[in-house]
Amino acid sequence: MLRSPLFYFTVLALLLGGLVTACGKTEHLQGKALYATHCNNCHLEEGQGLRRLIPPLAGADYLRENPAAVARGIRYGMQGPMVVNGVTYDHEMPGNIELTDFQIVNIMNYVHTAWGNEVPLVTVEQVRGWLAE
Ligand code: HEC
Repeated sequence: MLRSPLFYFTVLALLLGGLVTACGKTEHLQGKALYATHCNNCHLEEGQGLRRLIPPLAGADYLRENPAAVARGIRYGMQGPMVVNGVTYDHEMPGNIELTDFQIVNIMNYVHTAWGNEVPLVTVEQVRGWLAE
C-alpha cells in the first residue's frame, strides 16, 4: 500500500527522534550500572559517603572543581589527604584499570547529574586528555 510522503517523513522523524533520546538514556543507564558495580560499595546509594572514611559525591565541591583528578582517580586510584566540603579524608580509593575511557565518561556524567548534582558534563575528548596527562 502506497502512502503519502508526509507519512514516511513522520515515521522517519519519530524513529530518529527516538534513537537520539535512547542514546542519551543508554549512556546514563550504563553510568548508573557501572556506579552500582564499582562505586556504590563505598560511596553508597545516594552518593552520601560514609562518615569520615569515604567522602560524599552528592554536593561535593571536590567533584565540581577537580574533574581531571577525578577521571585519573577512577582509573588509577586516589591516595593521600583530600578536603571535601571542609572535611579532610585520607583513605585509599582503588583504581579501575579495566574501565574504558567511555565507561569513565559515563560514570562521571552519571555522578555529575545524580542526587541533585549539577556539575557540567564531560566529553570523551576531555577525559582522554586528562588521562594522558
Ligand atoms: C573501596 C572504597 C571506594 C570505592 C570502591 C570507590 N571510592 Fe571513590 N573514594 C574513596 C576514598 C577513600 C576517597 C578519598 C581518597 C583520599 O583520601 O585520597 C574517594 C574519593 C573519591 C572522589 C573525590 C572526592 C569527592 O568526594 O568528590 C571521587 C569523585 C570518587 N571517589 C569517585 C568514585 C567513583 C566514581 C567510584 C567508582 C568508579 C569510586 N569513587 C569508587 C573510596 C572509594
